[in-house]
Amino acid sequence: MKSDLKFFKNSKTLPVDKFLNNVLYDKKYGYYNSKIPFGKRGDFTTSPKISGLYSEMIAIWMISTWEKLGKPKNFNIVELGPGDGTLAKVLLNVFKKFPSFYNAKKLFLFEKSKFLTKLQRENIDNTEVKWIKNFNNIKKGPVIFFGNEFFDAISIKQFKRSKKSLLEKYYKITDDYEIFEIFKKASVYDKKMINSFKTLKNLYFIEFPKNGFDELKKIIKKISILKGCILLVDYGYLKENNQSTLQSVFKHKKNFLLKNLGKSDITYHVNFSLLSEFFSKNKLKVKKTVTQREFLNRMGIKLRAEILSKKMKFRDQSDLYSRLHRLIDPGQMGHLFKIILAYNLNINKYPGFK
Ligand SMILES: C[S@@+](CC[C@H](N)C(=O)[O-])C[C@H]1O[C@@H](n2cnc3c(N)ncnc32)[C@H](O)[C@@H]1O
Repeated sequence: MKSDLKFFKNSKTLPVDKFLNNVLYDKKYGYYNSKIPFGKRGDFTTSPKISGLYSEMIAIWMISTWEKLGKPKNFNIVELGPGDGTLAKVLLNVFKKFPSFYNAKKLFLFEKSKFLTKLQRENIDNTEVKWIKNFNNIKKGPVIFFGNEFFDAISIKQFKRSKKSLLEKYYKITDDYEIFEIFKKASVYDKKMINSFKTLKNLYFIEFPKNGFDELKKIIKKISILKGCILLVDYGYLKENNQSTLQSVFKHKKNFLLKNLGKSDITYHVNFSLLSEFFSKNKLKVKKTVTQREFLNRMGIKLRAEILSKKMKFRDQSDLYSRLHRLIDPGQMGHLFKIILAYNLNINKYPGFK
């Protein structure tokens, strides 16, 4: 496979995670630093871009959690990977309707891409939010971390297990920019880490979100000090896969993984069983993972659509409902997307979960 790879000045051999990190986040040519990925003109769309109803349900979930905690005066919300800021904008609009919550909350945006931070600054009232690169500024009060398609955008490592050994997958880039897959013996450290997860025990092809887990460890550290929770929504599965789930999309169509590098989005399907085991290992309680359909239905998304549609013309009503169906239909995002909640708050019942 030949490609015009601006990211790789010399021939190189890189493990999958480093390769993806270059392609997606290179400061100049990386996908997330060089184009607007979302919406009609971009390559893919996400739930907040499909309908404001989705973001409203997330806002109500946050307010309800705050109420269950006895309405603390200091309350932090961190949106992880806010994209173009669409969700944060709706959150603020909903929060304004609940003045005591609005006054108690601080909203932080945690974003890696300079390009997207600039876009967020254009789309959101800058006095209402704070952009952060770490969590040092969050000092008081409980904290809710929320990420929609955050975890699946962080590059993963891939491994193959044979009877005796664990091998890591690499991409070899030649001087002519040809790319080949090769396997090398995994490091002792990675082997030990992978072997410590029950979820991965019987797999011969393993996807391991080492970088994602490093990000989560910083979040868990904050939660363990301030008390709080993390709610993550992603495209993913509960039953083991035994195959590569890396996928590339270019202009809303599936794209060969190694084609249009830097111009296409590459993600993977999140292993929610592994994520749950990871949170438990790190001493957080974890709710049983739910589908996006279950979560949004329990949050009352249909009732909200009904109320909104009453004031609408027929054309707008049908647009609203077709967007709602995209979010919750089992054949669309309803079952493919899943939601996990990990927490150390003194609440056991959360809306949206059993
Ligand atoms: C697939 S987009 C989702 C955007 C948005 N949440 C939405 O649903 O429309 C992934 C987002 O996570 C950000 N991101 C990825 N890795 C990150 C990291 N390690 N730290 C902070 N942000 C990150 C990306 O730059 C981007 O904003």
